[in-house]
Amino acid sequence: MIDFLTRIGVARPVVQAGMGGGIAGPDLAAAVSDAGGLGTLGMTGPRALSAHLAEVRRRTDRPVAINLLLPFVRRGHAAPAAEADVVVTFWGRPTRFSDKPWIHQAGSVGEARAARESGADAVIVQGVEAGGHVRGTTRALELLDQVRAALPAGFPLLLAGGIADAADVADALGAGAVAAVCGTRFLMSAESGASPGYKQRLVEGSDTRLTELFGVGWPGTHRVLPNAATERWLRKDPRGPRSVRVANRVTRPMMARGPDALQAWAVTHQSVRLPFYIPAPPAHDLPDRVLETSPLYAGETVERIHDLPAAASIVHALAGGD
Ligand SMILES: Cc1cc2nc3c(=O)[nH]c(=O)nc-3n(C[C@H](O)[C@H](O)[C@H](O)COP(=O)(O)O)c2cc1C
Repeated sequence: MIDFLTRIGVARPVVQAGMGGGIAGPDLAAAVSDAGGLGTLGMTGPRALSAHLAEVRRRTDRPVAINLLLPFVRRGHAAPAAEADVVVTFWGRPTRFSDKPWIHQAGSVGEARAARESGADAVIVQGVEAGGHVRGTTRALELLDQVRAALPAGFPLLLAGGIADAADVADALGAGAVAAVCGTRFLMSAESGASPGYKQRLVEGSDTRLTELFGVGWPGTHRVLPNAATERWLRKDPRGPRSVRVANRVTRPMMARGPDALQAWAVTHQSVRLPFYIPAPPAHDLPDRVLETSPLYAGETVERIHDLPAAASIVHALAGGD
């Protein structure tokens, strides 16, 4: 039987997580794919995503994936889903968007089972250690065992959450994963679109918070570095004030459809005093003041990572220096 990585044409068992909000653009995805891993473009609007794919194609002829966050998919995303080599979906009812190999990220046995039943070709098992939006409550290797027991033998599983070095990748493969998926490790790379101030916080950061504070337009749980907003609003309840969580749910349909320009404006005008925060991380040249009111997404591995190397060298190091 042909194994999953061979089927998708990827040489090294290292997948860079799709990170939206301008973090995982063509620079990062092309560098990872060209180094033999699977680079993944973070979600944007359909036309921008097709343009990002074209940009990656100019830089490498190796396979590249796109990420689709299911609550925000529009009809036009069918085009980039058909142009990409692999489609990775997350958050919501598992859905296929093209005939390309499809991987769904799951945070529980139930979600993994639903993905397979919906026709996914593979599942990413996401542990609670993960950075960014976190679906489940179980640690990665434990959840991998549970999912493996629940799904048919041989169904391809990838592991996400807590993977920062070659030993972590070896543990994931030893536990039966076909590849390791890394977000935080690639967020902390030269090519990621995180703003310079955000990168500096990541290099210096250690502990993280699991909260629902940054949920306007997209309620959910996310792992972040502390900043002024978390320190002010998570004192009583680590999830965030109840009123904020209710407001996040109520505003979801409005903000999810809101024009990108409105959301971009809102990101730069948020205040520590007013706990309504868009779930967009500080990217590119956003000013340092947004660091106190934006989600500084980071996984638990931020404690062990203190550098910002080139993505290609990260791929080689994760794969054991081969
Ligand atoms: C900055 C950041 C942004 C993320 N954005 C997305 C996203 O847009 N779509 C997605 O499927 N997963 C996203 N994730 C979660 C990753 O897919 C993955 O589960 C996680 O990064 C794995 O854990 P790690 O950070 O410990 O490597 C994000 C993670 C980070 C750190």
